[in-house]
Amino acid sequence: MLVSAEEMLTKAKAGKYAVGQFNINNLEWTKAILLTAEELKSPVILGVSEGAGKYMCGYKTVVGMVNGMLEELNITVPVALHLDHGSYEGAKACIEAGFSSIMFDGSHYPIEENVAKTKELVAICKDKGMSIEAEVGSIGGEEDGVVGAGECADPDECKMIADLGVTMLAAGIGNIHGKYPENWAGLSFETLDAVQQKTGTMPLVLHGGTGIPADMIQKAISLGVSKINVNTECQLSFQEATRKYIEEGKDLEGKGFDPRKLLAPGTEAIKKTVKEKMELFGSVGKA
Ligand code: 13P
Repeated sequence: MLVSAEEMLTKAKAGKYAVGQFNINNLEWTKAILLTAEELKSPVILGVSEGAGKYMCGYKTVVGMVNGMLEELNITVPVALHLDHGSYEGAKACIEAGFSSIMFDGSHYPIEENVAKTKELVAICKDKGMSIEAEVGSIGGEEDGVVGAGECADPDECKMIADLGVTMLAAGIGNIHGKYPENWAGLSFETLDAVQQKTGTMPLVLHGGTGIPADMIQKAISLGVSKINVNTECQLSFQEATRKYIEEGKDLEGKGFDPRKLLAPGTEAIKKTVKEKMELFGSVGKA
């Protein structure tokens, strides 16, 4: 059964580790992440962007697929199904469809409007026992057409949004979705520290987990980050393994064209990346 992310993140914050949010794109992705979480006895959050939701034929299809897998694969670790960077309408659609967690990304609205919309969604989520993530300060880079400049959040605005009763808070600290440019200045730990001081026990979320060096990840966890989002890195692992399979001509040998064979190396590569991240984040054995 899907669970809200609240308990796993409260434990993570208290235990000074982070739970990974891994974005899903299809059946192989979902299966790879769930099997790895179960093998490592780690809690996990499956992230679904609005674009990926559309690609997978809508939120109800996603809920059906994930619930089916939890049962058929005998998954016992806590799993949350979470809308990533949801619009106001998208958040409502996922609540209806049976997600257990949503992110409402109101970071592009004026703060008053972000507050009003977040407040309304918090009330609905509380009522349904769901977790809700809010964002202050846009995350840099481009994700599904949403472009942000990588700003650092204002700690006072973070406190204002945290006080609305959200479960977890994404604060921009110079992080970027996708690959980091050569001249990236790194994470702003001063901002993170200031945000944590204002928001106390609130689990903080680090977006753009791909390509952040291990020492920065550990420092971020020590300053209150308890959820780390990873998307691009799984895509790159999948792409690299699939390219190798084709380049080696394996699709031309015997039944190598069978999609179950063709997609297998990529699926295994996702598992390896997820395992590395869970080890780095410290969530192994915490289920
Ligand atoms: P990356 O694609 O950079 O790993 O970011 C993922 C993310 O933050 C999803 O919200």
